[in-house]
Amino acid sequence: MKNPFHYGGVVTGNDFCNRTEEQQVLFRAIQNGEKLFIYSERRIGKTSLVKQVLQQAEKKGSTASYIDLWPTDSEASFITTVAKSITMSMGGTAQKLLSTAKQFFGKLAPSVSLNDEGKPVVTFRVQAESQITPLLEDVLSVPVRLSKKNRSVVIVFDEFQRIVEYDSDTIEGYLRSIIQQQKDVCYLFLGSRKHIIKRLFLDSSRPLYRSSGHFPLGPIDMKEWVPFIRHKFELSGKSIEPSMIHDLCNLTGGHPFYTQHICHVLWELGEPNQSLKANALEKAINILLNRESYAYTMLWESLTSNQQRFLRGLSVKPSEMRPFSSEFLKSCGIKSSSSAQRAAEALIEKDLIDRENGGFVIVDRFFKIWIAEKFK
Ligand SMILES: Nc1ncnc2c1ncn2[C@@H]1O[C@H](COP(=O)(O)OP(=O)(O)O)[C@@H](O)[C@H]1O
Ligand SMILES: [Mg+2]
Repeated sequence: MKNPFHYGGVVTGNDFCNRTEEQQVLFRAIQNGEKLFIYSERRIGKTSLVKQVLQQAEKKGSTASYIDLWPTDSEASFITTVAKSITMSMGGTAQKLLSTAKQFFGKLAPSVSLNDEGKPVVTFRVQAESQITPLLEDVLSVPVRLSKKNRSVVIVFDEFQRIVEYDSDTIEGYLRSIIQQQKDVCYLFLGSRKHIIKRLFLDSSRPLYRSSGHFPLGPIDMKEWVPFIRHKFELSGKSIEPSMIHDLCNLTGGHPFYTQHICHVLWELGEPNQSLKANALEKAINILLNRESYAYTMLWESLTSNQQRFLRGLSVKPSEMRPFSSEFLKSCGIKSSSSAQRAAEALIEKDLIDRENGGFVIVDRFFKIWIAEKFK
């Protein structure tokens, strides 16, 4: 029997828990040609959610282009990646791909080759840097040309925060005018580094300022996890008590990646036709912390003393305690609130903590447990 819990990659279909309301909102957004930026911590399920919705939209006849900007590092690679994703989203044989590529992106020297699995893949090239501006204009006009053919079109930019790594802010400026002009095309901008994404859309000096609606994505409720997890155990001939699901969700805060990861380990500990033993959760956490221990130790040692103190404070802080209150500073041994502020800023830059409900969370839920255990 295969482990029914998956962590790391994209999950859809039976491996996808709930998010019914979110799916409906996004589905409507696609139909309406809305522009949304969807942001959350890493691994909360943005990519999975959007891919799940794209599948439905495609079934209803939409053209959906999912563009992962993670591998891009310049305007030129942005252009070729967009061209490739749009061409591939229209599918077909090698010949069809090449003809689509030539029709829409002829200036980008399209060519088609077969990948390792024998599937046709199209590639593009920007021949001269001086052409960036007209090429960008060309490429970003394709969605509207497609939507004129009476199709609903959705363009997804995943890992959108990558664009701040490019040399200039040309792309931002272009996207602003596109967003304003392309009334019928839906654009979804997904980003993990919340502070960068917010800076892009909420800083009044940036081109994309308030150009799109907001869609913050949070964890999944315990009440959704309970039936999902029980069902997966039962279908695979094992069993887990609801009280253990409550305890594990309390530990992960319902964060999808960490919840699936703990469940994956727990499932391995279970015996067929038996309920998990009472100490199974503790055991699973120990297994996980042992696996990460080396990486966490290295990470911990790379931090300044105040950053370590701040994290230590957060790892045990009761939720009602404010992060810069004198009570908090005293509990973790930081001398002034300005030092605490500096530590917090640095930890945000390193992506180790994130702002949430006026406070902070340690992004990696297992790192939080590791720190709390370390100072028990
Ligand atoms: N709706 C969901 N149901 C169950 N697990 C989920 C769901 N969304 C995400 N996950 C879990 O979280 C992990 C990360 O999801 P992903 O979509 O890659 O997040 P993000 O794009 O926000 O980084 C997945 O591998 C899966 O384990
Ligand atoms: Mg993602």
